[in-house]
Amino acid sequence: MTTRINPSILAADFANLEHELGRIATADLVHVDIMDNHFVPNLTFGLPMVERLVQVSPVPLDVHLMIDDPDRWAPGYAEAGAASVTFHVEAAADPVRLARRLREIGTRAGIALKPGTDATAYLDLLDEFDQVLVMTVEPGFGGQSFMPETMPKLRRVADAVAARGVDVWLQVDGGITVDTIGIAADAGADTFVAGSAVFRGEPAEQIAALRAAVAA
Ligand code: DX5
Ligand code: ZN
Repeated sequence: MTTRINPSILAADFANLEHELGRIATADLVHVDIMDNHFVPNLTFGLPMVERLVQVSPVPLDVHLMIDDPDRWAPGYAEAGAASVTFHVEAAADPVRLARRLREIGTRAGIALKPGTDATAYLDLLDEFDQVLVMTVEPGFGGQSFMPETMPKLRRVADAVAARGVDVWLQVDGGITVDTIGIAADAGADTFVAGSAVFRGEPAEQIAALRAAVAA
């Protein structure tokens, strides 16, 4: 199984982002959290930042949109050159239509589900998406504790992906550490976002430790 480690720059030093990106060159993608102070009660950065990060990042961008009206805004992030754009189903008017648009532009299209959002409605639509992000905290802030109660949902999505034989990456985001990553891997995740766990220490060492913890 392929394991992807996507550090979240939400936990990086915002005054030195190019330097911080250089410290995660051994990662698979860099996770970029876009928050609008409406969909979540926190504000980060937007399209101009992503346009610059694409130019300087050693790894492709995995954009996580925690914003209202992604139907309107998500295509811009794909056009900016993000390798992957994931939007929340709770905020999207037409997730399938939006995912098709993102794929047309040439990016991987992802849907994200908050901890309380049921996955059932999407299990028969999995071939429309390249990634499903099962949030393992309430979106909005880094440094929160992993919610194990989200694991049955992750397992259901993983079973549906296997049953349908589709190539959909299963991502988890929130509270992923060397202690929790194995729980998510056992439930079927293959793509792991980690913010504080990576930037708290020496990023290359933390990325290696996370990979080792999945393999253990
Ligand atoms: C939270 C963000 C996460 C956050 C994870 O809403 O979507 O990507 O950066 O941070 P940690 O790994 O510290 O929980
Ligand atoms: Zn995120």
